[in-house]
Amino acid sequence: MDRIHILGGERLEGEVLIGGAKNAALPLMASSLLSSSPLTLSNLPHLVDITTMVQLLGDLGVKISMDGDSPNGGYAGRAIKMDASEPLEKSAPYDLVRKMRASVLVLGPLLARWGEAKVSMPGGCAIGTRPIDLHLSALEALGATIDLKEGYVNATAPNGLKGCEINFPFVSVGATENILMASTLAKGKTIIKNAAREPEIIDLANCLADMGASINGAGTDTMEVVGTEELNGTDYQIIPDRIETGTYAIASAITGGDLLLRGARFDTLSAFFSLLGKAGVEVIQENKGVRIKRTTEQLAAVDIYTEPYPGFPTDMQAQIMALMAVAKGKSIITESIFENRFMHVPELCRMGADIDVNGSSATVNGVSKLSGAELMATDLRASVSLILAGLVARGETIINRVYHLDRGYERVEEKLGMCGANIKRVSF
Ligand code: EPZ
Repeated sequence: MDRIHILGGERLEGEVLIGGAKNAALPLMASSLLSSSPLTLSNLPHLVDITTMVQLLGDLGVKISMDGDSPNGGYAGRAIKMDASEPLEKSAPYDLVRKMRASVLVLGPLLARWGEAKVSMPGGCAIGTRPIDLHLSALEALGATIDLKEGYVNATAPNGLKGCEINFPFVSVGATENILMASTLAKGKTIIKNAAREPEIIDLANCLADMGASINGAGTDTMEVVGTEELNGTDYQIIPDRIETGTYAIASAITGGDLLLRGARFDTLSAFFSLLGKAGVEVIQENKGVRIKRTTEQLAAVDIYTEPYPGFPTDMQAQIMALMAVAKGKSIITESIFENRFMHVPELCRMGADIDVNGSSATVNGVSKLSGAELMATDLRASVSLILAGLVARGETIINRVYHLDRGYERVEEKLGMCGANIKRVSF
């Protein structure tokens, strides 16, 4: 088990290299199942969730080779080659799906390529029940037979999938991704309405198009896919991680720092950056990335409402709450996507934050100072919000259960340490 120790009060300066996007890499890796030719992904982040997906694809029979260095060397992500040419296992076991619900993204590709798939129901997680009913009803609309038995989804489509119009009742990133992948091999045209518009969806659509898929409308709420007999392989570079970008932007803002987020893409975080600007943080586009500088002595409180892209991302809610905890004034933070994504609140309050939760809204009254404390991480984004608070708290902050953190952040203590943070990881 590891824990992270932070001595707060250091101002961050310098440069952070932004890695490949976890939430783009996971569906992209699943799409390797769609083709009998190898798919190579570069700029792959080194994260526990990626390792879990490698394990799952390996268990399914995909031949995988990982090159430790990316073409441009250094820590600019690794390259992974996945070859799904041999007949595959069709079952994703509970112990892997339980660890990472994104495992459900193998359902659509397996069904489209092989006409059958057995995937464990993911079960809930810390931030909510997170059902997959939209995935399943859309696959049924494409002609699959879905049978739920003993905690598993048994999906079959012996005559293949057939394109149709899918109209999602609300936006789901994962369901959009599963259907987008499945429809590339379905007979005829599929129209996906109320599709998710996240940059990770665009990245997946771009890679599928490189593999020979015919896709229009990626990044809008209506996507059109014309199915094809088979897809080729390709070499594809994963986009930078916008949530890692936002997280380090807050690390700079909360410490009154000046950080260049190398490789960051400004256009993928417009709603977030505009709120940061309102709080008194300067966001500057540069050719090497995005620079984040605190321009005011005192941060201003702003209200936040999480929404599907291009709105404010739910994956940045815990992090901006840490910033608002030390801003001047009152901030109302409303979480509209998940029903239980305030697990960081009690821990921030133990550091002296003044936060009241009422249903899906949290009222944050900024305080002048937080105090270090021993804390418990509960989920990926909650963990990093505790680190952000620890950077500015008086004294020492100790964060337990950092395995949550390692699912989505690569070498966080190294990246922060290189910019001046007094932070270390202790194994015990
Ligand atoms: C993706 O999860 C991301 N994960 C999440 O990031 C992110 O928070 C989420 O999208 C929203 O942006 C990956 O990309 C691997 P959804 P996903 O389907 O696809 C409900 C992180 O921290 N829903 O858009 O699972 C669901 O419960 C992770 O990196 C159904 O009810 O999210 C949620 O309330 C956390 N039925 C809402 O919709 C369904 O069939 C949005 O979920 C599907 C979803």
